[in-house]
Amino acid sequence: MDDVKIAQAELGTGGPLVGIQGLGCMGMSEFYGDTDEAAARDTLDAALAAGVTLFDTADVYGRGRNEEFLAPFVAAHREEITLATKFAIERNDDPHYRGVRNDRAYVRRSVEDSLRRLGVDVIDLYYMHRRDPAVPLAESVGAMAELVAEGKVRHLGLSEVTGAELREAHAVHPIAALQSEWSLFSRDVERSAVGAAAELGVAFVPYSPLGRGFLTGAFADAAADLTENDFRRHQPRFTGDNARTNAALLAPVKEIAVARGATPAQIALAWVHQRAEAHGLTVVPIPGTRRPGRLAENVAAAGITLTEAELAALEPIADRVAGDRYPDMTFTSASREV
Ligand SMILES: NC(=O)c1ccc[n+]([C@@H]2O[C@H](COP(=O)([O-])OP(=O)(O)OC[C@H]3O[C@@H](n4cnc5c(N)ncnc54)[C@H](OP(=O)(O)O)[C@@H]3O)[C@@H](O)[C@H]2O)c1
Repeated sequence: MDDVKIAQAELGTGGPLVGIQGLGCMGMSEFYGDTDEAAARDTLDAALAAGVTLFDTADVYGRGRNEEFLAPFVAAHREEITLATKFAIERNDDPHYRGVRNDRAYVRRSVEDSLRRLGVDVIDLYYMHRRDPAVPLAESVGAMAELVAEGKVRHLGLSEVTGAELREAHAVHPIAALQSEWSLFSRDVERSAVGAAAELGVAFVPYSPLGRGFLTGAFADAAADLTENDFRRHQPRFTGDNARTNAALLAPVKEIAVARGATPAQIALAWVHQRAEAHGLTVVPIPGTRRPGRLAENVAAAGITLTEAELAALEPIADRVAGDRYPDMTFTSASREV
């Protein structure tokens, strides 16, 4: 795979050139059950060899452990990769607690912690992971802009903000990337965020482009198919009647995959690329995997172009999905859209 690399795209106007598919590293430390660390490290290497250069983590993944896990890989490849991390989600010893902090003092403290855990003196792309509407964007993005001026951060990103919030933030400091959930199952971002990003020259980084694995057809009922320590067992779309309804929605994805000699994961990724093209948007999805074989499968999706008939067959799926994408939708930009 060494000599076949995926194409590159500019991550936002004036942003870094990155491979058109990134790698989500979250599952390497938490949320999706047990991880084979050696396989996860091989996946990082396989990604880089395939031309994947955007590596995505956050301070909240494993409460710092994901950043620490990435540090040796980052040290070995600092100049070859674009390192993205995030702040804003606060946790404590209660595994279910999630606070959102956007105030200046928290931003400044968080960046120092991430720099230390990652073992770097500058973060290439620093995202605000969630918005606390009680804190003005002028304060939070202003504090992030200070980090750019001080050389601690190179580019700014936001996650789960509305189109209006993206415009407001971009006026404080240019935003390189908007990272929000976007997939065949989750299309609420197409209401306002996608259009605003296209207009402003902000790249879109779809997270969970495989619907947290559901779109691959790998499991149909989280309660039966996933281990106790997998957080998807508690997600509305993954259990009971919702899971059964949603599994049936995969029929056209599977049919297209069979007809193409491809996999459902590849069809889901090709769809995200083509939806973005239709919106005139640069897109760099970050599917998460901990397995080199799946990494190879996912990057190969870049070679698939869906026909109009295939796109039409996939079009109705999102509207029929049963269950919200989070148990608490105030955790998403959709809850603040008017
Ligand atoms: N900004 C945010 O709020 C936010 C929220 C969630 C995630 N993220 C970021 O986005 C990244 C990706 O999202 P995600 O990991 O939640 O979901 P995803 O990419 O939609 O799906 C990941 C799941 O799919 C499996 N998978 C990957 N490729 C596969 C393939 N070819 N065939 C079968 N199964 C496959 C993975 O299992 P294996 O690992 O076992 O292969 C994992 O269980 C995360 O790693 C994280 O960096 C950001």
